[in-house]
Amino acid sequence: MRLFKCSVFSSLVYFAHVLLIVHSQEYQSDFINIDCGIPADSNYTDSYTGLHYVSDSGFIDAGESKTIPPAYRSSSLQQQLVTLRSFPQGTRNCYTLKPVQGRGNRYFIRAWFYYRNYDLKDRLPQFDLYLGVEKWDTIYFNQTTTRVQKEIIHVPTSDYIHVCLVNTGLGTPFISALDLRYFNRSMYTHDFGSLKLFTRVNFGESFGYYRYKDDIYDRYWRSSDYFNSSLLYNSENVTRYFGVYNLPAVVMETAIAPENTSNPLKLEWEPTNKSDQFLIYLHFAEVQKLQTNQSREFNIYLNGNLWYDETITPYDVITLTVESVAPEKPESKYEIVLQKTNTSTLPPIINALELYTVRKFRQPQTDDQDGKH
Ligand SMILES: *[C@@H]1O[C@H](CO)[C@@H](O)[C@H](O)[C@H]1NC(C)=O
Ligand SMILES: *[C@@H]1O[C@H](CO)[C@@H](O)[C@H](O)[C@H]1NC(C)=O
Ligand SMILES: *[C@@H]1O[C@H](CO)[C@@H](O)[C@H](O)[C@H]1NC(C)=O
Ligand SMILES: *[C@@H]1O[C@H](CO)[C@@H](O)[C@H](O)[C@H]1NC(C)=O
Ligand SMILES: *[C@@H]1O[C@H](CO)[C@@H](O)[C@H](O)[C@H]1NC(C)=O
Ligand SMILES: *[C@@H]1O[C@H](CO)[C@@H](O)[C@H](O)[C@H]1NC(C)=O
Ligand SMILES: *[C@@H]1O[C@H](CO)[C@@H](O)[C@H](O)[C@H]1NC(C)=O
Ligand SMILES: *[C@@H]1O[C@H](CO)[C@@H](O)[C@H](O)[C@H]1NC(C)=O
Ligand SMILES: *[C@@H]1O[C@H](CO)[C@@H](O)[C@H](O)[C@H]1NC(C)=O
Repeated sequence: MRLFKCSVFSSLVYFAHVLLIVHSQEYQSDFINIDCGIPADSNYTDSYTGLHYVSDSGFIDAGESKTIPPAYRSSSLQQQLVTLRSFPQGTRNCYTLKPVQGRGNRYFIRAWFYYRNYDLKDRLPQFDLYLGVEKWDTIYFNQTTTRVQKEIIHVPTSDYIHVCLVNTGLGTPFISALDLRYFNRSMYTHDFGSLKLFTRVNFGESFGYYRYKDDIYDRYWRSSDYFNSSLLYNSENVTRYFGVYNLPAVVMETAIAPENTSNPLKLEWEPTNKSDQFLIYLHFAEVQKLQTNQSREFNIYLNGNLWYDETITPYDVITLTVESVAPEKPESKYEIVLQKTNTSTLPPIINALELYTVRKFRQPQTDDQDGKH
């Protein structure tokens, strides 16, 4: 069913195929939603997502429950960020998750951190986040209002997944919420290691975000009306965009194009660590109703080299995803250029982008037992 693979070029495309899968409520049972710091054994249904959040009391037995100051609890604040669990004791404190699907499956794990001066010390902490015994990331905040979200796609070798907060002497670790989603479909199937989210962007909207239920996997899509680009959207029939990655219609129905339509569309970024190896996912779908004398065709370049060897023509109702076949060579700067062909009458567009970096977890996480650390 999948794909065209070309060994010369570093990308491949998921040719459109219509996946007629009925998406029912089953997905919620593939989710673990933990609101850290709410009263033990309590639970609630989140009003924005409709997801059922439970207390973290069943997943950890250390730490202290805390709440951000009342002045900052606005009604628009995501409910999971109001309370948190902080860990003044011990250098390493772990949550133990046991997804019913068990080891060897692909999961998407997301941790949320919102400091907001909960401890009234006005001192931004820095600490490490671990997945089992291996470091996942360092958590730090630029401002008290910074909300940090870390995501990783991971295939555990054990039935238990330990998400650990490690005190590195720079402040008390804490966590606001923890999400796990079962992801065992033909998506993000690389065997290069775990995929750490670098960014996930919905082009063409300048604010807001989408997650569940717009995204059946609860991926978080942040908005970006990228630099020097014009917004395109389809006010017509854009309800269904099928594709391997099951992208939300609300994400795919907006796109950007270069402001000057004779110019290429450029997307640039710099890695946080120059040895990072990126996996790039570009998602395309047509958002205009083309006249018979109009065409949209473009080529994709990465740092000056042709990245995919076929000319791209986005489809109407089907998402086309072009992705790295292997981790990209580390560079200090990346530039993707979408360049229209000479015969194309319309400029290039892009609807959505995901960038991940490869994180190798060499050792098995921990012994396969319900050990608290
Ligand atoms: C939610 O809480 C209610 C009562 O507080 C309890 O009966 C129910 O089992 C809980 N549900 C879950 C999924 O934890
Ligand atoms: C913190 O600030 C730096 C420099 O201003 C910026 O590059 C970075 O993205 C910010 N980090 C967060 C988590 O907001
Ligand atoms: C998950 O994916 C693996 C590898 O593709 C497969 O062997 C396994 O059967 C899948 N598990 C489920 C529950 O679908
Ligand atoms: C954006 O537009 C400004 C002028 O409007 C121009 O100077 C700049 O080079 C453009 N940047 C890109 C990345 O196209
Ligand atoms: C929407 O789609 C339906 C069925 O394909 C079609 O009959 C209708 O004309 C379309 N509407 C617009 C505005 O394109
Ligand atoms: C658009 O770009 C082309 C080629 O770079 C240039 O010749 C033209 O003057 C530009 N148009 C505007 C309105 O800036
Ligand atoms: C960058 O990544 C390399 C390899 O993963 C690691 O050894 C190094 O410590 C990282 N550097 C920083 C500043 O995080
Ligand atoms: C395409 O056809 C329309 C009329 O159907 C016309 O107005 C327009 O100028 C044509 N565009 C091009 C690029 O030929
Ligand atoms: C497209 O136009 C450019 C500049 O005019 C030219 O260099 C290039 O060879 C053309 N490409 C094709 C495929 O005709």
